[in-house]
Amino acid sequence: MNKEKKMNKSIIVTGGAGFIGSHVVRLLVNKYPDYNIINLDKLTYAGNLENLRDVESMPNYVFEKADITDEARIRSIFEKYSPDGVIHLAAESHVDRSISNPLEFVRTNVLGTVILLNAARDYWKDDYDRHRFYHVSTDEVYGSLGETGLFTEDTPYDPRSPYSASKAASDHFVRAYGNTYGMDVVISNCSNNYGSHQFPEKLIPLFILNIKEKRPLPVYGDGRQTRDWLWVNDHARAIDLIYHRGKSGETYNVGGFNEWQNIDLIRSLCRIMDEKLGREEGESEKLLTYVKDRAGHDRRYAIDASKIKEELGWTPSITFEEGLEKTVDWYLENEAWLNNVTSGEYQNYYQQQYENR
Ligand code: NAD
Ligand code: TYD
Repeated sequence: MNKEKKMNKSIIVTGGAGFIGSHVVRLLVNKYPDYNIINLDKLTYAGNLENLRDVESMPNYVFEKADITDEARIRSIFEKYSPDGVIHLAAESHVDRSISNPLEFVRTNVLGTVILLNAARDYWKDDYDRHRFYHVSTDEVYGSLGETGLFTEDTPYDPRSPYSASKAASDHFVRAYGNTYGMDVVISNCSNNYGSHQFPEKLIPLFILNIKEKRPLPVYGDGRQTRDWLWVNDHARAIDLIYHRGKSGETYNVGGFNEWQNIDLIRSLCRIMDEKLGREEGESEKLLTYVKDRAGHDRRYAIDASKIKEELGWTPSITFEEGLEKTVDWYLENEAWLNNVTSGEYQNYYQQQYENR
């Protein structure tokens, strides 16, 4: 059944202090003043309450610092808020970190998801029809494409990194709980997001930071890997739509219709940065440094997002050129945010990740 949920709802958003989660929380808190939005986040290195300063004093927002692998705590949060739904984004999300520490990805992404599912299954057991578990996942579960073709919702799973394997496992558990217990579950698989508030371990914010500081730009391998980029605000809009209007048991692929080879994207970023920083044309490109490839590096991801477009009327709202410029502006205007997240542990991470490449 295609259901529009009633007002006065309570929704737990897990991972709401992270990159995508903070955009989802901001959108929901502002758009639905009658809802109670509970941001459940452990605040790992990637979670940052600074991301939500503009909504933290709103009456329909509340923060719970909690680990999704802490079963007793998760069950008590269900008791406390009687949620109508969960939008589950909490995860370890960076492929490079999954290569150095796969177990952490199993713990959070697989075990954490199952603990949340168990809490929801037991708490909602008398009325699955009025409660929804929405799991936010990635296109990386589908594996790597050749030169042509697109991932559809029917593409067989073929995860190839510890990160994508852990997300694939969590997707399977969510579907299994829908099938076995009759829970109302929905999944979306999205392509690479970019935009404000992204931790500078991922390509775009890392390269903005390095260009700003005139540090080398570490291009993995030949730089010809392809990703499909989507502005994070458009992903948040899609998540809102899917939560409210997506069909129970279905999967929706979300993408930007926007494929770029890494090296072309990086060159565009260099041009924008030269202009914004008043540097000579070509100056930032001189920082390009080809380094050892990522182990098992997936060559190409690309999403066929026609299902969400046709069924739910969703399309991206801005072009990549506009989005990239807005993103660069945000990082340049929010130096304090950047300094804050790159102090301390980030320096160790950066050294370990890049020093011997
Ligand atoms: P992120 O790393 O920026 O944020 C993850 C958030 O989860 C952080 O706030 C962190 O504190 C929290 N978290 C981690 N472990 C937790 C735990 N054990 N308990 C509670 N909270 C915990 O990630 P993101 O890029 O915003 O991604 C969010 C979700 O979207 C993830 O599930 C990811 O797989 C998925 N996704 C991301 C992208 C992308 O391009 N970033 C694309 C598609 C799907
Ligand atoms: P990333 O932002 O880590 O996202 P994902 O691996 O989940 O797609 O990386 C995007 C692309 O950029 C990917 O092909 C790896 C590449 N990359 C680099 O070349 N250098 C870097 O320092 C990083 C972080 C990524």
